[in-house]
Amino acid sequence: MQLSIRDILTTMDYGPAPEADTVAREWLRSHDGGFDHFIDNAWVPPADGARFEVSEPASGRLLAEVAQGGDADIAQAVAAARRAFGPWSALSGHARARHLYAIARHLQKRERLFSTLESLDNGKPIRESRDIDVPLAVRHFYHHAGWAELVDTEFPDHRPLGVCGQIIPWNFPLLMLTWKVAPALAAGNTVVLKPAEYTPLTALAFAEICREAGLPPGVLNIVTGDGRTGALLVEAGGVDKIAFTGSTEVGRRIREATAGTGKKLSLELGGKSPFIVFDDSDLDSAVEGVVDSIWFNQGQVCCAGSRILVQEGVAERFHHRLVARMELLRVGDPMDKSTDIGAIVAPVQLQRIRRLVAQGCAEGAVCWQPKTPVPEEGLFYPPTLLTEVEPASTLAQEEIFGPVVTSTTFRTLSEAVELANNSRYGLAASVWSESLNVTMEVAGRLKAGVVWVNCTNQFDAAAGFGGYRESGFGREGGREGMAEYLAPVESVAPSMLPAGKRLSALPDYAAEVSVFAPQTGIDRTAKLYVGGRQARPDSGYSATIHDAAGHAAGQVGLGNRKDIRNAVEAAHKARGWETMTAHARAQVLYYLAENLEARAPAFAERIESLTGVSASLAKEEVAQSIQRIFWYAAQADKYDGAVHATRTQNVTLAMNEPWGVVGVVCPDESPLLALVSLVMPLLAMGNRVVAVPSAAHALIATDLYQVLDTSDLPGGALNIVTGNAEELALVLAQHDDVAALWYVGTAAGSAAVERASAGNLKYTWTNHGIRLDWRDRRRAQGRDYLRRATQIKNIWVPYGE
Ligand code: NAI
Repeated sequence: MQLSIRDILTTMDYGPAPEADTVAREWLRSHDGGFDHFIDNAWVPPADGARFEVSEPASGRLLAEVAQGGDADIAQAVAAARRAFGPWSALSGHARARHLYAIARHLQKRERLFSTLESLDNGKPIRESRDIDVPLAVRHFYHHAGWAELVDTEFPDHRPLGVCGQIIPWNFPLLMLTWKVAPALAAGNTVVLKPAEYTPLTALAFAEICREAGLPPGVLNIVTGDGRTGALLVEAGGVDKIAFTGSTEVGRRIREATAGTGKKLSLELGGKSPFIVFDDSDLDSAVEGVVDSIWFNQGQVCCAGSRILVQEGVAERFHHRLVARMELLRVGDPMDKSTDIGAIVAPVQLQRIRRLVAQGCAEGAVCWQPKTPVPEEGLFYPPTLLTEVEPASTLAQEEIFGPVVTSTTFRTLSEAVELANNSRYGLAASVWSESLNVTMEVAGRLKAGVVWVNCTNQFDAAAGFGGYRESGFGREGGREGMAEYLAPVESVAPSMLPAGKRLSALPDYAAEVSVFAPQTGIDRTAKLYVGGRQARPDSGYSATIHDAAGHAAGQVGLGNRKDIRNAVEAAHKARGWETMTAHARAQVLYYLAENLEARAPAFAERIESLTGVSASLAKEEVAQSIQRIFWYAAQADKYDGAVHATRTQNVTLAMNEPWGVVGVVCPDESPLLALVSLVMPLLAMGNRVVAVPSAAHALIATDLYQVLDTSDLPGGALNIVTGNAEELALVLAQHDDVAALWYVGTAAGSAAVERASAGNLKYTWTNHGIRLDWRDRRRAQGRDYLRRATQIKNIWVPYGE
């Protein structure tokens, strides 16, 4: 409907303001509406000829036909990326930077094509694709051109990974591509990317841009297709890293599929992010915050603030203002510049939203929807507020991924934190209060990878983005994101043992099992160490440990599933270790090292007799262990975070936070030094640890009890469960209250723990059966260990009027 000037002045309403989509349509026409895969800088038809249709969510009209990638297509793309990897990674950082700058410039020049094409394909309002998606994508390439320039000096002793398989969702098609491709290329990797089946078009346009900008063939390859194509890419040989953004369900499947393959993995998964409004907040700003939080991109945002938690005293006022604001939101044509809420990406998504809202209403939620019209044609859904939502209900727990927000009230700060953290997810959170104390306290206590204070949905290439818990692991953006595309230069250590003597025949752990055959006859049995006390193993069994000459040296308890559960519980209770100051933690660890030093000769003797190494090597192992504890004690208050340079009038704090309770499974070689090397970085960062020591030489760990008892380490901060390391590792991997697991053992054991960890998507670090030389300070000690011992929370704090 065309409004006259008189109408406009009378109603003060907007008339239609459609953005011309000519450039995008012309581009589609120039390809005859059909697209092949993009491999080696050329369009390559699908090997089996299969294709599928891509249509416009706003109208249902066909936009294009694209190739459905199969086995052969993936193999061809991976081969191209592999060929390109050598020359691309051999380029100087500066030369790679020039390529990334060129891409950024070309993208910038085509802003109009990309924003209109994105809105046609995805259904998002042109205002958002034009003002947010595309400018951010450009910014990412400029920013990462800088990282390419700096990678050698900022990440010394690191190398690119190789070929990266990247799988992205449909909610931010170009932006998610950028978040993945820019750091991968900057670090010197090559890429095979699979866009989402609903929205592959901007990725294909981007491929053309790269070719035009002179990116060498094979550096970026795009294979289109649905989930089957994604699964083929995940399983493909010759791929060194999988980066995935999408649903938690698929993320879990990818975790299982990559287990044991050595493919590095980063997962950006779902969320159910809280939006917390305190009674002293600026309510009008908070209402505007909700608009940006849940009605941005139709709520199809992994970090959408989909759960409002509002303090009881202001709840009614807040809801009233929110409902009034909802009446003003305009739902409709994505190409209209005054549209606030565009189309839902696909019929299946729309059905899902309808089903979940209907279920919520049936369960007693009160539903608010504005009276403003919603187009009948196309995939549209009105902005929706659901109040009276029980915290445990489906609506409050499940990711709806639509323009639907729930609201629940709270009374106290602690209750707000508890409700906010009552989710299996932990991607983002938004906190509203005029009190700095309140916002910072809450930000610190939230289990979320990103916290926005008095703001929401802030993104920048310089800040990391990613989740806690089942929202995945790994970060995208900034220094944190670069680390995901690099690995320390590896050393497969030469055997450090005297000729003819081997500590354990890695990877033959089966031999160790017999060590634990229950026996009787030796009376002194070392128990387990749980909650700061020695504890009998639940099984009542013990096992004989033999020395290097084959004589019985002592007995240790045979821990089982129940013992691990007890140890995890004790570790959870020891939260004081996490909340004490880093200075205090350092002092405890120094003291522990001194206590070990006081007993150094006894430990050296034990190592010598159990492992058969020479007296001088045994002495050296103890000395190095002491030094390593000192090193991590020193780091406790030095491995700190950063303030990212994101935007003006904003402080973006990158805080290193401990995981919580971490499992550690130790190898047999250098039994004391390996244990210390694994446990100490975790303790220094405030984690609480459940450690399974070397199975064959467990007496070295049980000798430590006395040292622990005489130090000030609080009970439960470090728990030790002896027994069959492989079995206990699996129990730890399956435990939902263990946030991360470090496993050093066999290749098969590494695969098993990675697979078993998919349940709660815990972060794992395994050695894939590769022997580490624990004496090599450059490899067995350092900031990489501290990085793995922490997860980064980015807190955005804007300031000024
Ligand atoms: P999805 O997780 O199935 O799709 C994301 C990407 O993964 C697409 O490229 C898809 O082709 C690919 N994929 C699907 N199955 C795969 C497999 N087995 N192996 C490898 N790749 C695979 O998400 P979908 O079905 O599009 O949406 C379902 C729900 O997932 C949404 O309602 C929403 O709740 C959530 N979601 C979350 C996203 C986020 O950013 N956190 C993004 C997209 C969806």
